Amino acid sequence: MSATTRHILTAPAWPYANGPRHIGHVSGFGLPSDMFSRYQRMSGNRVLMVSGTDEHGTPIQVAADAEGLTARQLADRYNRVIAEDLRALGLSYDLFTRTTTRNHHAVVQEIFLGLLKNGYIFPQTTLGAISPSTGRTLPDRYIEGTCPICGYEHARGDQCDNCGNQLDPVDLINPRSRINGETPKFVETEQYFLDLPAFTEVLATWLQSKSGQWRPNVLNFSLNLLNELRPRAITRDLDWGVPVPLDGWRERTDKRIYVWFDAVIGYLSASIEWARRSGDPDAWRAWWQAPDAESYYFMGKDNIVFHSEIWPAMLLGYDGQGSRGGTPGSLGALNLPTEIVSSEYLTMEGRKFSSSRSVVIYVRDFLERYDVDALRYYVAAAGPENQDTDFTWSELLRRNNDELVATWGNLVNRSVSFAARNIGSIPEPGKLTDADQEILERSRQAFARVGGALGRSRFKAGVNDAMRAVGDANKYMSDQAPWKLRESDPERMRTILHVVLQLVDDAKTMLTPFLPESSAKVYRMLGGEGTWTGMPRIDEVDEDGGPSYPVITGEYGDDAARWESRPVTPGTPLSTPQPLFTKLDPSIVDEELGRLEHG
Ligand code: MF3
Ligand code: ZN
Repeated sequence: MSATTRHILTAPAWPYANGPRHIGHVSGFGLPSDMFSRYQRMSGNRVLMVSGTDEHGTPIQVAADAEGLTARQLADRYNRVIAEDLRALGLSYDLFTRTTTRNHHAVVQEIFLGLLKNGYIFPQTTLGAISPSTGRTLPDRYIEGTCPICGYEHARGDQCDNCGNQLDPVDLINPRSRINGETPKFVETEQYFLDLPAFTEVLATWLQSKSGQWRPNVLNFSLNLLNELRPRAITRDLDWGVPVPLDGWRERTDKRIYVWFDAVIGYLSASIEWARRSGDPDAWRAWWQAPDAESYYFMGKDNIVFHSEIWPAMLLGYDGQGSRGGTPGSLGALNLPTEIVSSEYLTMEGRKFSSSRSVVIYVRDFLERYDVDALRYYVAAAGPENQDTDFTWSELLRRNNDELVATWGNLVNRSVSFAARNIGSIPEPGKLTDADQEILERSRQAFARVGGALGRSRFKAGVNDAMRAVGDANKYMSDQAPWKLRESDPERMRTILHVVLQLVDDAKTMLTPFLPESSAKVYRMLGGEGTWTGMPRIDEVDEDGGPSYPVITGEYGDDAARWESRPVTPGTPLSTPQPLFTKLDPSIVDEELGRLEHG
């Protein structure tokens, strides 16, 4: 391992196991985290990418009620569906697991106890909402009312989507049930609280140290949250979740740890599960405890508060670094996030994604009709990286047909077929002209620029730069017009083709993090053997003979893809290529819009 090898934890948000994923979901956490990870691995870094389905709490319970299933049945069903959605997108998780494992429960309880030992968790009597008509507990997010901070009228009991602040249902002005509109009744109940104010100073120092590194919207939002820190309930009146690991609480079926407290710990528990499955139970420590290990968390913006405030506070408390001091728990001190990479929202043809109103396109439906790389390209080039962004079918059509098919696919197709037909292999170059040397040099230099962008999660800039190299190569081929030289100067024709095929090879390398599947095709077209870039698979696993569950995993370390220009090998046989991408008929726009209306 070279001295510059970095340990990089890629931590994509955990999707709720309450339904199949749509492209709005995966454009926020999934695709960006995979592009980042693939680039880092190609650069020789040791990446650990772990996540899973988020299976506890009211989001799951409510969906289960709606489908007439138990929470466990619902979670089992959608854990499988989501694992398949994410595998089909080519997301290179080292481990994609779930939060209902025994391992996860044990790690959550360990963190809870570590926080308790250091004095950052305390019990308190509070008011909980119940439904007067059913007598059942009303989950926070099913209560709506006016936000006491910004006055927004549709704030939820757990959070205001307008100002982003964390709320408690009792804070809402004019609270009402979102299920039946009735006014909830508040009764006394005891919960455990996380003492967030004990971390105000250390969080402020930490966040300020990220200035200039994080996306400014994420950093400013997070700094603003520090003005409003209050203790936050981390248990709930609910029977579906991780039990509270304390005498008198453990056996109760009506008290569970709050789903967000358990879910963020998943990054750690999944790392531990991965290490155990890989045969070295301590292997996770290289990503969590080494002082120079790095961690990048990917999510949509509604998740920022949990990753830039609550999770760091939990880690600091476990480490004994809040205002009450303390000592690390039995796992040892754990690293804080290096960066919270959050994207903005994707809307669908001008409207919010909504499964209930069928303003939605599910991953599996998209992949049934279109290439996976068409979606990956769209999200990289036109995704919600820095601002809310609208997905439209006409833009998908344009990006696919004009950019993937007509620019990149066309370059590959015309260069490889021309060389295959006229020479049959990658030609030996003759003497290079200035123009040849200049374009080859420009292509080599693009690696640093595209790589620099990918390493900072600037996917738009990265993909645009890579596509600029493709455009330059197309222009070079048109200017040099090798087809005119077949009779008059075959040696020059061969040199030009050699140069173009080198440019194609470079471009496929730079496009690999964005377009792994089609890049692997180009690799094979140019004579590459073995695996170019590792693809995820689903394994069926269990915990000591318990019930089995699917995980996404894969071998990504031994593939051939490296972030560098590699000389193509003259003499490599070429055959007429299959098209890289499918050209779409403009009629798909109306078809898809019709599906949206009538769903
Ligand atoms: N399930 C949450 C959502 O879909 C995300 C959880 S991210 C985690 O919004 F870190 F908490 F796991
Ligand atoms: Zn508000």
